[in-house]
Amino acid sequence: MSTNAAKNLFIYGSLLCFIVLVVLTIDTMGKLDQRAPEITEKVDAGKKVWHKYDCIGCHTILGNGSYFAPDMTKTTERKPKTYLIKFLIDPRSIKPDSAMPKLGITEKEADDLIEFLVWISKVDTNGWPPKPILAVAATSRAASPGQMIFQKYDCSACHQIQGLGGAAGPELTHAGSKQPDAEWHVRHLKDPASTVKNSAMPDFAHLSNEELNALAEYLVTLK
Ligand code: HEC
Ligand code: HEC
Repeated sequence: MSTNAAKNLFIYGSLLCFIVLVVLTIDTMGKLDQRAPEITEKVDAGKKVWHKYDCIGCHTILGNGSYFAPDMTKTTERKPKTYLIKFLIDPRSIKPDSAMPKLGITEKEADDLIEFLVWISKVDTNGWPPKPILAVAATSRAASPGQMIFQKYDCSACHQIQGLGGAAGPELTHAGSKQPDAEWHVRHLKDPASTVKNSAMPDFAHLSNEELNALAEYLVTLK
């Protein structure tokens, strides 16, 4: 290559790279505003409550914080609001051995916190955090109908089976030994509080009978 050709390659190459950089920057800046929904007064109030109780001292949010407790970025997508509010006000009323202390959160504060967490859950994070390992593991092996329904309704958001899943409800690894009656499981799923006093588990009465029976059959096999 002659010196002249090398010089041209350098100049036009650099120019091209610079133009690509400018175009991509403009493109990204234009999309930034669309990546999060509008901040309402309640969201703002919720964020102040989040700071007041130093939630980040135990939890991560959008990847920042402490790793003592679960990440909060998508919590509201996986759990009903009524359940979360109860949990925030008094974690041990739902999970007797909860490692989260009763912080003295009022009902209004809990409500604002949920608004803030719902807002956070809608921030476009390019798919972060990744789906729980359970979902990946489960799709890679043949699952029974009941197991598939267990995944479809995200029971593992609150329950662990063999170490995988959330910790809000009891572990279900031996659910079938504890309660071998499939009928009981159907009744419990339809209306948890009718079988377990003061149950904080959300009801699954909206599932079809077929789905409920398949789930119950799966649960009694867990021994
Ligand atoms: C001292 C540490 C600690 C602090 C402070 C704390 N948490 Fe937690 N939190 C936990 C732990 C640990 C869990 C995991 C479940 C359990 O053990 O009960 C949890 C669970 C949760 C859950 C999920 C419940 C579920 O069903 O999975 C929510 C929501 C939550 N915390 C919100 C908050 C908010 C909001 C704050 C601040 C107001 C906060 N936490 C402060 C330790 C803490
Ligand atoms: C938002 C959290 C949450 C979700 C989601 C959830 N559960 Fe629960 N579950 C609980 C809590 C809290 C309890 C303890 C109270 C009770 O027994 O009703 C519980 C209890 C249970 C029990 C009794 C276990 C025992 O040891 O006594 C079974 C079985 C069960 N859940 C199955 C399911 C199935 C199946 C699904 C999905 C269709 C599901 N749960 C979804 C919170 C949840």
